[in-house]
Amino acid sequence: MKNTESVLKKIENLQESASSQLKNNADSNVLEDWRIKFLGRNGELSELMKVMKEVSSEDKRVIGPKLNQLKDNLNKLFESAKESSAQNLNDENSFDITLPGKNLSYGSLHPTTLIIREICEAFRSMGFQIHEGNEIETEKYNFDLLNIPSDHPARDQWDTIWLDLKNSNDKYLLRTHTSPMQARIMEKNDPPIRVVVPGKCYRYEATDATHEWEFHQIEGLAIDKNISFSELKGTLYQMARKIFGSDQKVRFRCDFFPFVEPGVDMSILWEGKWIEILGAGMVHPKVLSGVGYDPNEYSGFAFGIGPERVSMLKNKIKDIRNFHANDLRFLSQFVS
Ligand code: PHE
Repeated sequence: MKNTESVLKKIENLQESASSQLKNNADSNVLEDWRIKFLGRNGELSELMKVMKEVSSEDKRVIGPKLNQLKDNLNKLFESAKESSAQNLNDENSFDITLPGKNLSYGSLHPTTLIIREICEAFRSMGFQIHEGNEIETEKYNFDLLNIPSDHPARDQWDTIWLDLKNSNDKYLLRTHTSPMQARIMEKNDPPIRVVVPGKCYRYEATDATHEWEFHQIEGLAIDKNISFSELKGTLYQMARKIFGSDQKVRFRCDFFPFVEPGVDMSILWEGKWIEILGAGMVHPKVLSGVGYDPNEYSGFAFGIGPERVSMLKNKIKDIRNFHANDLRFLSQFVS
């Protein structure tokens, strides 16, 4: 038989040790450890409860209510400790300033913007100015002044998105290349001219991995006295080395564009293949005289680069449609 006095003493001791071990502001792990130690299935309270089996029924009447009281007290202690630790989490003053902050997600420049800036910077460093132009053009600038009369077969690939704008003597279209800016710039400026014009162009075209109906070009124009084909080659070669690396190889081949004579395209040697990245040539005498320049006095060269194509090579992009798909998994790879 257990002695009542000693059981009552044990109840008192357990009450004391349990409350002294429950610390203020305990975190949830510490609270849980305390609960298991005192209130758990094999905890100290359950252990003490076992004496009920060993005491006389007379003693039970004294000990029983005390044990119930103890159980009640421990549960209350636990509940209030839990509540105060939850309150602390919401309390501004207990905010832990040493915790790492949440990272904000920043926007980034579009890969097309990045490559346009890089290419323009390459030309700027060679003394070219940067200019922008209209996306809506007239037939006169998009074709006629570029030596592409309406019956010329070269119109076929460019005779595309016409606009239904009334009250005009001219026909409007979304420009199919940035070359109309050659004439606009020459009309407004006297030589010498060195300018690059980045901008959007549009063609009525079926899209595939290497063609988009909306894309960018960077037009280049240099007009002065005595500009020769070697300046064209040297300038474009230098651009390729700035963009692709100092040992970049380039290849020029004859090509036809009505507004240059002679005309070429330039390819770069990339992963063992020649890849065309631009069209170029010496500005055609008819284009010069069309804007009032004397072709016997002035000469120059022009070129048109596809920046998305350049970016595709540099960044191993397999499909040009990625540029307009607005997919963050693609776009967020170009954080500058
Ligand atoms: N405008 C031509 C094109 O869109 C490229 C070009 C520009 C060619 C300037 C020669 C000179 O294909």
